Amino acid sequence: MQKYVIQGGKPLTGSVTISGAKNAAVAIIPAALLADGVCRIENVPQISDVTLILRILQELGARVKLVNRHTVEIDSRHILSFCVPDELSRKMRASYYLIGALLGRFGRAVVSMPGGCDLGTRPIDLHLKSFQALGAKVSVEGGYVHATAPEGRLHGAGIYMDQASVGATMNAMLAAVRAHGTTTIENAAKEPHIVDLANFLNTMGADIAGAGTDVIRVRGVRALHGGTYSIIPDQIEAGTYLAAVAAAGGDVFIRNVIPKHLDCITAKLEEMGVQVEEYGDAVRVIRRGPLRRTNIKTMPYPGFPTDMQPQIAACLCLANGTSVINEGIWENRYRYVAEFRRLGAHIQVDGKIAVIEGVDRLTGAPLRACDLRAGAAMVIAGLAAEGMTEISCIHYIERGYENLVEKLQGIGADIRLVDTQDEDSQRAGQAG
Ligand code: EPU
Repeated sequence: MQKYVIQGGKPLTGSVTISGAKNAAVAIIPAALLADGVCRIENVPQISDVTLILRILQELGARVKLVNRHTVEIDSRHILSFCVPDELSRKMRASYYLIGALLGRFGRAVVSMPGGCDLGTRPIDLHLKSFQALGAKVSVEGGYVHATAPEGRLHGAGIYMDQASVGATMNAMLAAVRAHGTTTIENAAKEPHIVDLANFLNTMGADIAGAGTDVIRVRGVRALHGGTYSIIPDQIEAGTYLAAVAAAGGDVFIRNVIPKHLDCITAKLEEMGVQVEEYGDAVRVIRRGPLRRTNIKTMPYPGFPTDMQPQIAACLCLANGTSVINEGIWENRYRYVAEFRRLGAHIQVDGKIAVIEGVDRLTGAPLRACDLRAGAAMVIAGLAAEGMTEISCIHYIERGYENLVEKLQGIGADIRLVDTQDEDSQRAGQAG
């Protein structure tokens, strides 16, 4: 068991480099199942969700070669199975992409219902409706999704998303890319990782247009070939470092970013009195004066991302005045609030609304991470709080942040990764 130990209250300075996007990587890696050649994927983040999805591909019979820390080659020509077992699938949300990818490749998929962070009800009805629209027979039995294309290949169709779902949009693209005929996805989600998945598939020979708008057209092709592709930088990892500097103060260059993807976050930070300068593939964030209050409503891209809501809340705990957050995507994304109160934050929650009354200071306390972004927000609050904050259950955070401790140390944070067993045996030694 490990935990983070943070001595807060120190401004951050220097530069930090952002890794590849988690939510692109966990879709692009399963997408390699659709290719009849070797896919070389670069800028892959080293995080536990990626390790897990690569392991699932290996279990299915794909050859996975780690060329270096951030490059992987996947050869799916000898897949042995279209069935993904419960013990692997349940550990992550993105295992749902295996349904679309296997169905698109083999006309058959049996995948355990996905797991992932507890953010409230997380249905996959829109995914299943999309597969049905493409002609698949779909059922859920014994905790598994069974999807079959009756004649071995799906047929292009019109798909209307009742809600602009990121996962369902990407899954519909995966299933449609090798279908017979053209598919049109309306009210599609527009997040940067949707464009990234379409670009990856097009590099491998797909014919997808319109990704990044609300209508995506997929002309089915017979086969996809191998190729080389580099994943985009992680919008949310970059936003998390922006928020860390906003909360703790300081002056940091955040490198390897697409500044356009950060507009929805930087616009709010600027309202709060944080200075953000844009360069080609970097942003510089400076916060010297007090933070000002603001209101936030989370929305699909290009709105303010729900995956940044807890981190910005950490900043607002220390802003002058009262801020209101309206969580527009997930029903259970305020589980960090009880932990923030242990630091001295003033927050009231009523359903989707959180009211944060800024305080002059937070003071360190032991905290427990409860999901990925809540955990990241606790790190930010710990960096801004006076004294020591310890964060346990860090496996949630490691699902999505590569080398968080080293990267934060690189910009001057006093944060350590501590083995709790070592601490326990030290205490036992002292006691003996
Ligand atoms: N929804 C349905 N039915 C569906 C699918 C979604 O009703 O079949 C609803 C959800 O309940 C939610 C809304 O639609 O209210 C949007 O959900 P979406 O499908 O867009 O979310 P997701 O694909 O399950 C991805 C990210 C999440 C991120 C959301 C929103 C991955 C693996 N996960 O989830 O990321 O919060 O999009 O942007 O890409 C995270 O990284 O911490 C994380 C939770």
